[in-house]
Amino acid sequence: MTELQLRYRQAIGRFATGVTVITTVDGERLAGMTASAVASLSLEPPLLLVCINNKLPTHRALEQSRQFGVNVLGEGDEKLALKFATPADDKFAGLKVDVEHGVPLLDRAIARFVCDVHECLPGGDHSIFIGAIRHCEHVTGRRPLLYFASGFGGIHQPDDALGRTAELLGMTGI
Ligand SMILES: Cc1cc2nc3c(=O)[nH]c(=O)nc-3n(C[C@H](O)[C@H](O)[C@H](O)COP(=O)(O)O)c2cc1C
Repeated sequence: MTELQLRYRQAIGRFATGVTVITTVDGERLAGMTASAVASLSLEPPLLLVCINNKLPTHRALEQSRQFGVNVLGEGDEKLALKFATPADDKFAGLKVDVEHGVPLLDRAIARFVCDVHECLPGGDHSIFIGAIRHCEHVTGRRPLLYFASGFGGIHQPDDALGRTAELLGMTGI
C-alpha cells in the first residue's frame, strides 16, 4: 500500500457510516457480506448504491442474481457485522431469515431493502451496484450500529435530541 493509500484509508475512516449486510442468492446458496459503502442515490425513482470489491464472491453472485437485499444493522450487532465480513460457506447458519421477492433478508435488521440491479458501474477495484428499490421497511425505536475509524460504535445522544435537524429543515414524515 502506498503512503497516499494508507492516508486515504485513515482519513475516509473519519467519515462515519452505518453498517449493512448485503444479501443475495448464489445459485442455491444464500450469500451475504458486510458493507458500509452504501448510500441513498435518488428518490424519483428510488435508487440506492453499494460499492463492492470486484474480487469478492458476493460480487459475482450479484452479477448473476441481479437482485439483492440491504439489511441495516442495529446497535449491538457487531458480531453479525464481523460474521458477514469473514469468508465462510454458510454465514446464515442459526439466523432468522425472511425471503422477500426471492431475496433473503435478516430478521434482526432495523431497515431492509429489496433491490433489482439497475446498473453496475466500474469504480477502480470496486463496482458500484445501483439498486432500484422494489420493497423497503423499517422498525422504529432501535438505534443503528455505526462504523468509524475502523471500529464499531453507536449514537449516544438522548432520544429527545434525535430527529430535530429534519424538523428544522422542514423535512416532515422522515
Ligand atoms: C464494517 C465493514 C464494512 C465493509 N464494507 C465493505 C464495502 O462497503 N464493500 C466491500 O466490498 N467490502 C466491505 N467490507 C469487507 C467485506 O465484508 C468482506 O470482504 C467479506 O468477506 C465479503 O464477503 P464474501 O467474501 O462472502 O463475498 C466491509 C467489512 C467491514 C468489517
